[in-house]
Amino acid sequence: MDGNGRWAKKRLLPRFIGHQKGLNAVKRVVSHCSELGVRSLTLFAFSTENWRRPEDEVNKLMGLFLKALQREVGKLDENNVKLQIIGDRSAFSEEIQANIELAESRTADNVGLVLNIAANYGGRWDVVEAVKKWQEKNPHSPISELDEQALGQHVCLAGLPEPDLLIRTGGEQRISNFLIWQMAYTEFFFTPTLWPDFDESSIDEAILSFSQRERRFGKTGDQVKSC
Ligand code: IPE
Ligand code: MG
Repeated sequence: MDGNGRWAKKRLLPRFIGHQKGLNAVKRVVSHCSELGVRSLTLFAFSTENWRRPEDEVNKLMGLFLKALQREVGKLDENNVKLQIIGDRSAFSEEIQANIELAESRTADNVGLVLNIAANYGGRWDVVEAVKKWQEKNPHSPISELDEQALGQHVCLAGLPEPDLLIRTGGEQRISNFLIWQMAYTEFFFTPTLWPDFDESSIDEAILSFSQRERRFGKTGDQVKSC
């Protein structure tokens, strides 16, 4: 979700207002995806690298995260959304951690949209954690037994379908340490739209573009057309 700061700067507003508007965009996108019947939506809210931002901005982002967890969980629950936070939550305040647990347990049995919020998340962290988890579960296995399938069972979002579509807003065309393992075959959609301006029609545009692509998964176009 990129472009909050630029959205604010263009209007001569503090960056934080951009983040607040970004939260409104999150609400729009979550309810639209929910209505469309999207199975799983993962939003990159805060990366392992975002701690490098000025302290004041980090503090304000944490405040917004806490407020969103407290205020939005009721509506998510009503809409049958299952909320999960992925990332290393140990770096967050105890209050945030407690609210994450509350929000997750309250929505755990919901069977609608699975909403994953990546917070203090990094794709490389995810892969390293998966190796550690595998080793913990298989303390007597040699590392040579670790294969793609086994590792894939221990990364974040294991059990959910691999992402079909990545949308990056704000004109940047890079993955920035997002779901690097899970996105091996994901289709990418880049848009100059700044995240606070992202709305229902932006989602529809991305899905339309996705629907017009041919996914070959290593095969030839003729092979794909014949099945
Ligand atoms: C939001 O956009 C991303 C967050 C880390 C919350 P940015 O804050 O990166 O916005 P720009 O790139 O400065 O416009
Ligand atoms: Mg940015």
